Order: sequence, then C-alpha cells, then structure tokens
Amino acid sequence: MPDTPSDKFYLTTPIYYVNARPHIGHAYSTIVADVLARRHRLLGDDTFFLTGTDEHGQKVQRSAEAAGIPPQQFTDEVSATFRGLWDRMGITYDGYIRTTDECHKRGVQKLWKVLEERGDIYLSSYTGQYCVSDEAFVDVPVGAPCPECGRTTETITEENYFFKLSEYQEKLIDLIASGKLHIQPEAVRNEVLSFVRSGLKDLSISRTTFDWGIPVPGNPKHVIYVWLDALANYITAIGYGSDDPADKAKFERYWPADVHLVGKEITRFHCVYWPAFLMAAGLPVQKSVVANGWLLFEESKMSKSRGNVVRTETILDAFGDHYRGSLVKAGQPEPDKRDCDLFAADVLRYFLLREIPFGQDGSFSFDALITRYNADLANGYGNLVSRTLAMIQKYFDGKVPDSRIALEATDEPTILAGYGPEPPGEKEEGLMVHMPSEAIALEAAFGQDVCRFRFARAFEAMWLFIGLLDSELTAQAPWKVVPGTSEEWMLQHRSRVLYLGAESLRIITALLYPVMPHTTAKVWAQLGLGSIEQAARNGELKNLQWGGLKPGTKLGPLAPIFPRADKGLAQIMTDMENPTQSTATTNAAPSAAPAAESAKPVESATAELTNAAAAESSANPPLAPQITIDDFAKVDLRVAKVLVAERIPKADKLLRLEVDLGFEKRQILAGIAEYYAPETLIGRKVVIVANLAPRKMRGLESNGMVVAASVGPDGAPVLAGFIEDVELGARLK
Ligand code: MSP
Repeated sequence: MPDTPSDKFYLTTPIYYVNARPHIGHAYSTIVADVLARRHRLLGDDTFFLTGTDEHGQKVQRSAEAAGIPPQQFTDEVSATFRGLWDRMGITYDGYIRTTDECHKRGVQKLWKVLEERGDIYLSSYTGQYCVSDEAFVDVPVGAPCPECGRTTETITEENYFFKLSEYQEKLIDLIASGKLHIQPEAVRNEVLSFVRSGLKDLSISRTTFDWGIPVPGNPKHVIYVWLDALANYITAIGYGSDDPADKAKFERYWPADVHLVGKEITRFHCVYWPAFLMAAGLPVQKSVVANGWLLFEESKMSKSRGNVVRTETILDAFGDHYRGSLVKAGQPEPDKRDCDLFAADVLRYFLLREIPFGQDGSFSFDALITRYNADLANGYGNLVSRTLAMIQKYFDGKVPDSRIALEATDEPTILAGYGPEPPGEKEEGLMVHMPSEAIALEAAFGQDVCRFRFARAFEAMWLFIGLLDSELTAQAPWKVVPGTSEEWMLQHRSRVLYLGAESLRIITALLYPVMPHTTAKVWAQLGLGSIEQAARNGELKNLQWGGLKPGTKLGPLAPIFPRADKGLAQIMTDMENPTQSTATTNAAPSAAPAAESAKPVESATAELTNAAAAESSANPPLAPQITIDDFAKVDLRVAKVLVAERIPKADKLLRLEVDLGFEKRQILAGIAEYYAPETLIGRKVVIVANLAPRKMRGLESNGMVVAASVGPDGAPVLAGFIEDVELGARLK
C-alpha cells in the first residue's frame, strides 16, 4: 500500500447486497474508504474510489419475488437508497458500479470467455449442499446447517461449469507468503494461508436453478456464479471488457487496485478466488486486501437478519437536529439541511474510526457516541478552536498576531517522538518552545498512520497534542496581566501564545480534514484560510511547515463548531430505532396484511423487503417463561377506536394516535408509521394495553400501547383487530 505520494491510488469497498437497506455496518466500510481516498487525494495521488451494489443471485431474486416486483425494479430501488445515503453523507466515490450495468455484464462475459479460452473452465455435474444466504456450496452433510451462518442448506444437483481453482494452490501460497498480495490484519492473512494450504477444490461457477444473473456466453441455460460476477466489478468499473480506447486507457491506468477494503467475513473470496481468477485471466493481481472487523450491537454482528441494526439515517437526523437547535439557540443563522447532514456525518466518521480498533470487532452504542463526541470534539478540538480564536478576536482585532516561534533544526520532538506518552517534565515556558517540533512530528506520523489504517494510534497522538496545547494555553494564560511586566512584554507574550495556538490548529485541522471534511472546512475558514477543499487540491495540506499561517491573516466569522450534546440525545436515537417498544406485540398470526403505504417507491420496496424476509424466515421466538392467570390478569387489554392518527415531525417511525375507550379518550404513540398510513387507521378498532405506566417520547406522553403481532425478522407490526363488531372499552380476558 503506498503511503507516500505516488502516481495513482485505486481503492474499493465491497459492493453491497441489495436485499437489505444500508445500516451503519455498511457505512463503516464506506467511511473508512472515503477517509483513505481523501487523504490520498490531498497527497496528490490520482485517486479512484469505487463503490456500488451487488444485485444478482438467488437471494435477490427471491426477495424481489416476495415483494411482487420484477428484480430489475427491485434492485433499482434498493441500489438508489445506498447511493442516496452516500450522497447525503458526502461520500466522494469516483465510480458507482451496479452489477446490473450493461458495461459490467459485458466485462464479466469477456472475463468468462478469457478463462474458458485459457482452459480454466470445464463442464461437469455436481451435487452438494447450497447455502442460499451466502450464495455458496458448503461442505456439510445433507440436512446440516450452513457452517458460516447457521441457516438451513439446500441439496442441489446441477450441471455446472467449474473453475480449476485447485491448479492455483501453489501460486496463491507464493503470492500471499511472499507479500506480493498484502493481506491485513496479520490474523486474517494467516487464516487465508492455512485455508489455501489445506487444499483447494475446483470451484463451481455457474447455476441453472435460477436466472437472475449474467448468462454464460454460449450456454444461456446457465447464469454466472454471483461471486465471480461480483468480484469482477473491480475491473469492469474501470473499463475492462470495453473496446473504447478511453476505457482501455482507464483500465491500464488504475489496475491493479491498490486496496480492496472488505469486511472480514469475505476475505476468502477476495484473497483466494479473486487472485486465482485474475491469474487465470493473465491479469495482474490486486496489491492488497484490508479487512475491517464487525460493528456489534448487543454483542452480535449488526445485520438485517438478526434485526439488530442501527440505521445511519438515525444518527444523521438526530445529530443534525442537535446542531441546528444549538446554533439557533446561540443566535446563529439556522444551518440548512445539507450542513446538518454533513456535520452529523463527520461525528459518525470520527466516532467509528476512533472507537473501533481497526481490524477488530467493536461495539456500537449511542451512549458511547455521545460520550466520545463531547469529550473529544466538543470539549477537546472544538473548545480549543473557540477559545484560541475568541482571544485573537478580542486582543488582536481578529488578525493572527505576528510572533512566530522559529523551529530550530536541532529541536527534537520530545513528547510525540514515537508517540511516547511520557510528559517532558519541563517548565511551561520550556514546553512552549517545543510545540512546533511536536506539531511537525505529529504531521509525519499521523498521515502515515491514516494511510496504514492505524486510526486509533493516530488519534491518540493527535488528542495528546490537543491536550498539551490546551494546558499550555491555560498555563500561559494570555488573558491575565502578569504583574510587573510592561505593556510591550504582555503584547509579545500574547502574540507568542496565540500564534502558537492558531498555527497548531492549522496543522491539526489540515490533518483531520480527511476524517471530518465538513467541520474542518469550517475551522479552516474561521482561521481565515478560505476553502479547505481548494487547499487540499493545491497540495497545501501536505508537507506542512511550521509558520505557514501568515501573521496578519484576518479570521473568518466565528461560530460554534461542535456544540455540546445532552445525554438525552441517546434516548432520542434509541426511540428512533425502536419505536415498536411503544407497541405491544404478540405472536398471533396476522388476519390481514398491513396496509404498507408510502409515497416513495424506495420505501415501498423496503416494506416489501420486510415481507420477503418474513417469507424466508420460519423461526418464531421461543415462548416467554410461564405465568399464572393472576399475572395475566394484571394486564388490562381494552378495545379502543382510533379517532386521530398523524405523523410526528422528524420521527419517521412514530404515529400519534388519539383513541376512544368509550369511557375516556387518550393519546398513545405507536411505532407503526413505516407500516401504516395514518389515514387508514381512523375509525379502526384496535386493542390497547390500558394500564401501562405513561412514557414520554419526543416530548409527547404515551398512555398505553397498541397491540400488534410482530412479523418477520424485522418485527413488522400487524395490528390486532376483530371480525365481529365489538363495543368500545370491552376488556380482553
Ligand atoms: N455483496 C457482497 C460483497 C461482494 S464484493 C465483490 C457482500 N455484501 S454485504 O452487503 O453483505 O456486505 C458487504 C460489506 O458490508 C461487508 O464486507 C462489510 O464491509 C460491510 N458490513 C456489513 N455489515 C457490517 C457490520 N456489522 N460491521 C462492519 N461491516 C459490515 O458481502
């Protein structure tokens, strides 16, 4: 992996399956790639960052069938949600590949023909256990579950085309052991090596049991195995398979990829199958595969099938609202939606990189997100910016003072040398003159660490520096008049301290730009330096020299950057994710399908996705522990009629209901907005838990719960109701 300026840098994320909506697990891989891409661009590398969606295969076909829409329409809708989210977050992808793109299909068919011509494909028949979820044959006895995901496998006998993977065993070992294909982290590399050493079987690379895929050239009864199809995106997206000279030049320019960034569960496909296909086709192998660990939520991998996902939109909405509200409260102009979204995206970017040790699994929680935000961004970096710039405003009329501290060639960094945590034990005055060399030491190491995916190390050093600077500012107290000193001395002193602060901030901000592009742009502008994007393009954010900030520079308008967040924000996000907590659920079978209505086509596909998932899942949750009739009698279930149903602003999932119990009317909040259009509920009789303690959500009080069956792995609610007419207030016993 290059970490010094080089000619080109080609980086990819996995292409995401379209049978689930994006969650922060997907956003994690995409964010890491975006940080890398931005860092390489500012180094001057000709960077190409590719992402996209994986749209073929049986799993997608079944989801589309269950949704009752053609697979192309289905994949168009879900792919658009991924792309829309990346755009909302300001992800700077250079290419967005979809495996249903014509250029991709053409490229995959060309790759197939090349493999066939070179004698690496043959036709044979095969019987085995197939895991539809993982789109792979697995080596287990009939009836046994998939060893990877635990789902039921299907016995499939097929006439298949095979790829001669077994012939590539030695070449793969050489490739990996020699480091020609760099695999990171080490543990993954070792795992892959032992998998290859244990012996490779030829790989089945076509299917005849479904047709949602790319046809095998010359034998359209077969479609090409979804992983061969998917992996080829990395070359088709940059022109492989096209005869257009511009595409050919693009392919020559960017291939081989510098980094395939992948989740750790798909390293075998990227480190074994993909290099084997490439070698067989006579193409250079990618330079490296870097695996990220998993985001865990409540101890298990966040995934749609487990139903434990956190949606990125929740964080964007909640933090965006927090930002808007805080600025308005501070008397600032109201930020627009784009500003709020990008602010929130920066918070998530910083948190994920700082909190999850890269390459390992890490837990996500809203509490940790807020704690980290307040400690590092609001009280750390943000506070340093505001106090330094406010003092320059006050004492120097908003102009950077003129008192540069020269960096002497002999001055070795002491504090950050090797990122050593030892404090220097020097007097404050002494420490101050070292700061420039500390800043330069930070620059060299931080940039390299980011390029090598060592984010935690980089941030530890950065926040050590921020802490030092902060205590230095406090110790030097430029706001205090030192008794017995002249006015001239005071001016000199203030200038030195505040120049040190502002220039250090310039370096910190330039380094943090790839991580938090939006908020660093604001700090940059406040420092009076104009557009940070422009500076990145001009190469002004690399090779930072002490003294780059010109004295006399006029600061831009000052405004809060990271307003402190209240812990209550965690509850708001929890409510946004789990509004169904306000809905009691039972396992009763639904008597009628919910009226899944929505204006947006994407939403409709998503509602259908839920049904599709429900159709695939036969498992019901285990029964709750036994209770007595007295226990049951404590729950007062009543029949009520919906009088009013309306959406709650900025709460995507909640509806506000007013219900009539016959003897009283009350307000209930129900987490059903994604499944029921409010107008379809008016006049409908429902069952409520009438003696539940009131609870506040989004500032409104909910007095009870609406009872619904929870259907499918995502727990889609289906309201309980009656065929006969039932009088209001009747109790269910
Ligand atoms: N379509 C295949 C990849 C083909 S690449 C040629 C696939 N798609 S996926 O949507 O299931 O997952 C893709 C990637 O999303 C994972 O490899 C990982 O990078 C990211 N993540 C999905 N869930 C995640 C977590 N819970 N945590 C971290 N990353 C996660 O596999």
